[in-house]
This record gives sequence, structure tokens and C-alpha cells, in this order.
Amino acid sequence: MEVKFFNKRGEEVKKKPLKLKWVDFDIKKEFEHFMIKEIYEQPLVSKILIDSLKTEQSDIVNKFLDEIEKANKIVFIAAGSSYHSSLMGSRLLRELGYEAYSVLASEYKDMKYDKNTLIIAVSQSGETMDVILALKDLKERAKKVLSVVNVPYSTIQRISDSSLEIKAGPEKCVAATKTYTNQVIAFLYLANRLGMKVNVEEIPDEINRTINMNEERVKEIARDLKEERDIFIIGRGINYYSSLEISLKLKEISYIHAEALAGGELKHGTLALIEKGTKVLALNPSWDIDIKTNIEEVASRGGVVYEIPKDFYAKESYPNFSLYSVIVGQLLTYYTAREKGLPIDYPRNLAKSVTVK
Ligand code: M6R
Repeated sequence: MEVKFFNKRGEEVKKKPLKLKWVDFDIKKEFEHFMIKEIYEQPLVSKILIDSLKTEQSDIVNKFLDEIEKANKIVFIAAGSSYHSSLMGSRLLRELGYEAYSVLASEYKDMKYDKNTLIIAVSQSGETMDVILALKDLKERAKKVLSVVNVPYSTIQRISDSSLEIKAGPEKCVAATKTYTNQVIAFLYLANRLGMKVNVEEIPDEINRTINMNEERVKEIARDLKEERDIFIIGRGINYYSSLEISLKLKEISYIHAEALAGGELKHGTLALIEKGTKVLALNPSWDIDIKTNIEEVASRGGVVYEIPKDFYAKESYPNFSLYSVIVGQLLTYYTAREKGLPIDYPRNLAKSVTVK
């Protein structure tokens, strides 16, 4: 097929074809839905990303590290799951001593920007309008605009001064799964290069183990969850951000009202909703003393608490546990939606890429 381009005056405009390096993954297993296929692709795509950060993308990684080190303030701008991964990114940078924040793209004016502010846009599609509008405004006002995208040559990548690709390949289910995971891995990798102790190498195998060790247990719990209207997800510190991501998955794909809470906030109001049988998912790694108190607060009022890692497998390495917990949440979402007979890949009222304001 031949395609021709014309300008407003009807004159033909010649364009140079560009071959996209955009491969789909042929993993040898039959899947009923894209969502579960994409969950299963995570060990592979995480490995591809880690390898590429060390090789073909190493110059871009160095550029990111250099810009982060030089900036007075770092602001991540994103929406939805990409916002949740950016919360992990900014948190890791704060733990390393940088002044870093995440803002929702639709609320980006909530922050002060100047010529010493580094912007890091995070977007799977690279086409989210709220992010594009924020970047267009900030391009001249901020120091530099960097981005972390999945889709090469996307608008956000083209606006950016420099862009890291997360190499997750095409993601077809409306829910972000493998792209969320690879965004987080990119931030873990950067944090590691900036001096944080992160076991990046274990991630692909651990994701694989997390999927395989949890599937049967998740299917069992999904049968309980399918009747629920509400569920609360609690975590503290960096795990609070994972709770936000798990709750978004449960809402959009399982149609359950899932509310994420920082454990410490329970006593400030939501505890009033906990009664006999209320379901709560708690991210409870051994080092988190305070979340244990929150679990007791729920259990003593008759709430039913499912715990990661007590009831599910997730390796307790810091900060990777946060990522492994989200993999459990993805599986829980998928199997609950399947129990309910929901459309899964194409949930009602939602689009994969939100290209309107
Ligand atoms: O393409 P983006 O990462 O910019 O998309 C942002 C959100 O629209 C997206 O993450 C959305 O929240 C997903 N459906 C979540 O699963």
C-alpha cells in the first residue's frame, strides 16, 4: 500500500520512512486474555530491560544520572499506573537524599518549577494528553525534560531532551501490568546506580517465582473476593505506593471498590468502615513493625486480613518486595475478574491511551 502526505496547499510532502524496533513477544503458552499473557511476560521483559539498561541504553542511563545529580529538584509527572510507578521513583530518590516529588499530570500546576528543576515524565503510551500538556508548558520553564516511555517515537519521547525506553513491548490489555513493572525496574536500576543497595539481578527470576508460587492460592482467594463490593489495601512507606497500584488494578479490571491506605491513616477515619468480614489486603514485610499494629486494628474488629507475604509468596528483599507485592495484586485482579466473568482486557468506560484532557 502506498501512502502520500500533502500540506494545506495540496502539495505533496515527502517523508522518510522510519522502521520501528517494536517487537511482540511470542511466549509459548496459550492464554485466554492479554492481561494474563502480559503478566506472564514479565520475567522476560524485565530481563530484556535490565540488559538494555546495561548495554544499548547505558549512555541514556548516564545522562539521567548526571541530570539527577545536577538538579536542585526533581519532579516526576505522570498519570494512573505510571504515576504510581513514579511515586516509587521519587521515593527512592528521596531515600538517596535528593529532593524529588511526583505530581499527577492533571495537577502539575500544584508545584513550583524553575530552571533548576528536572522533569521526568513517565508514560507507557507516551501519548497521555495530560502529560503532554504539562510538558509543553514546562519545556521552556524547567531545566530539562526527561522521559521514561514504552512506545518508541511517541509524542512524549519526541518532546523530551532524553528518553529511556522500558522495552516491555506492546501492551494490549487496558490495565498496565508489564509496563508498570518495567517502569519500577528502571527506577530501581537508577537508584542502584546512585548508590542504593538494590538486588536488580534477582528481579526476573523472582517475578517468575512470584507468579508460579501464587497462582493457585490467588485463584482460591479470588473466589472469596468476587462477592465483595469493597476491599482495603494497606501498606506503609514505599509499600503504600504498591497499595495504590493494586487498588487501581482491582477497580478497573475487577470492578471492586478498592481503597489504598497508608496504614497509619486507618485510625483517622476509615477504621469506621471495618466490620465483621470486611476484606483487607496488607503488605506486611517482616521489617515493618507499624503495619502489624494496623493489622491488629482491623482483625480485632472482625476484618479479614490477607497478608503479603504470610498468605502469598513475595521475597522480602528491600525495596523489591514492593514490586513483587504488585505482581500478587495483578494476579488477584485477573483471577477475581475472571471469576466474575468480566471483559478483563477491555473494561467498561476506559481506553488504553487517554489522549484527551
Ligand atoms: O500511557 P500512560 O502510562 O501515560 O497511561 C497512564 C494511565 O492512563 C494508565 O496507567 C492507566 O491508569 C492504566 N489503565 C492503569 O492500568
